[in-house]
Amino acid sequence: MNFLDAEFVRDFVRMANDGWEQGWHERNGGNLSYRVKEKEVEQVLENFVKKEWQPIGTSVPKLAGEYFLVTGSGKYFRNVAIKTEDSICMIELDAKGENYRIVWGLKNGGKPTSELPSHLMNHEVKMLSSNGKYRVIYHAHPANIIALTFVMPLNDAVFTRELWEMATECPVVFPAGVGVVPWMVPGGRKIAVATSKLMERYDVAVWAHHGLFAAGEDFDATFGLMHTVEKSAEILVKVLSMQQGKRQTIKPEEFRDLAVAFGVKLPEEFLFEKLVVKKD
Ligand code: 13P
Ligand code: ZN
Repeated sequence: MNFLDAEFVRDFVRMANDGWEQGWHERNGGNLSYRVKEKEVEQVLENFVKKEWQPIGTSVPKLAGEYFLVTGSGKYFRNVAIKTEDSICMIELDAKGENYRIVWGLKNGGKPTSELPSHLMNHEVKMLSSNGKYRVIYHAHPANIIALTFVMPLNDAVFTRELWEMATECPVVFPAGVGVVPWMVPGGRKIAVATSKLMERYDVAVWAHHGLFAAGEDFDATFGLMHTVEKSAEILVKVLSMQQGKRQTIKPEEFRDLAVAFGVKLPEEFLFEKLVVKKD
C-alpha cells in the first residue's frame, strides 16, 4: 500500500493539521509521535528505504524493535498535510533501544524531532503502565497553559486543582491530574527523564514557560486531552484577567460527587480545602 494511504498515516497527518489550526504550532513548535502497530508496519513495509543507524540520545530497551511515526526536527506542523513526506518520518529502533534509523520520509533530509528522547521515554513508561494500549505522545505550545506558568506556582497540586475547577468535565478527562516540569533546557535526556517520571502518574505534563506534553491510547484521545487542558487554561486566564480570585467555584465535595457519578478516582491530595475570598 502507498505509505500516505495507510489509515494511521492519514490520522497522524490530520491530528498535526488540527494542532496547527488551533494555533499551537508556531514555526516548528511542537512534535508528535505514534507507536505503530505490527499490522500497520506490514501494510507499508514495501515503501521502506532504510537509512543508517543514529543514536537516540537515551536508552529505551523496552521499545527495542518498535516502529514510530514522528514529526521532523525543524519541520512545520503547517506543512505536514501538504508536504507530508518532507515533514515527517517513520523510524525503527534497534535491538537495544539505543539507536534509530529512518525507514521512510524526510525525503529532503533532516532528522526526527529534537524531543525524540522525551517522546520515546514517555512511550516506554506509558506502554508498560497501559499494557501496550498507549500509542500517542504529543507536544504542543498552547498559549494559555504557557501563560499560567508565569503566574501560578509550578506545583502539580495547584495546576491540577485550578484546571479541574475551570470546566466540569476536566476531572473526568484527566482524573490523575497534571504534572509540572520546572524550566529546563529542551531537547535532551535530562528533560526527558523528568517528564517520563511524571508520566508514570499523569497523562499530561506541563513544561514551564514552554508547553505541554500529552499521552493517550489513540489520536482522538490525545488531541482531545491537549484541547481540554488548553481550553481550561484559557478559561482560567480569562477569569484571572477579569478580577482577583473567583466569586464561586466547584468545591471539594462536589468533585467527590462528580467522581462517583462518572466512575473516576480523584486523588484526595488534590481536593484540599481552599480559602474562598467572599466579595459581597
Ligand atoms: P523540533 O522542531 O525539533 O520538533 O522542536 C520543536 C519543539 O517544540 C522543541 O521543544
Ligand atoms: Zn517545544
